[in-house]
Amino acid sequence: MIEIIKADITHLQVDAIVNAANSSLLGGGGVDGAIHMAAGPALLDACRKLGGCHEGEVKVTPGFDLPAKMVLHTVGPQWQGGEAGESGILTRCYENCLQMGLSEGARTIAFPAISTGVYGYPKRQAAVIALSTMQPYEDSYDKIFVCCFSDADMWIYQKAMASLELE
Ligand code: APR
Repeated sequence: MIEIIKADITHLQVDAIVNAANSSLLGGGGVDGAIHMAAGPALLDACRKLGGCHEGEVKVTPGFDLPAKMVLHTVGPQWQGGEAGESGILTRCYENCLQMGLSEGARTIAFPAISTGVYGYPKRQAAVIALSTMQPYEDSYDKIFVCCFSDADMWIYQKAMASLELE
């Protein structure tokens, strides 16, 4: 079941939350900053041992002080106009996180809107990629949460979900 919610992802009591990180995995602003703040310094120590992460890939750490059991750190594409393979990289982020969550035994998972903040990915296009990549996994998880951080984002995801259901 895919559920679109508005929440601070660091508050969610789920098995796995996804972090929209950068390739250093050493923290940043946005949701990355919020997750590190809430998880505590042990998260940064764990990330230091991971040796970074390539775009489209995912690495897992425990959740430490977060209510979530684990954090799936992924690196989304930086928007460069749409001709640099951004959609394929974003698709791989969602695909790899969904796969990694299953291999780590997660039954509930929450995603932020990867790449749509600092990385500038157009929100509606990103929402269609996110939801269409999640759909084949609906029955593999008890719940897949799309965790929006604003009403505007909620609305974009609800419209995108409606358009996918019509296809
Ligand atoms: N909970 C849920 N969603 C959040 C939160 C939060 N606490 N904080 C921000 N967001 C949302 C933003 O509103 C946006 O919709 O997460 C989405 C992704 O935005 P960013 O966090 O800016 O991530 P991204 O666009 O992928 O850029 C990644 O930003 O923070 C740095 O280190 C990070 O360099 C990396 C880059």
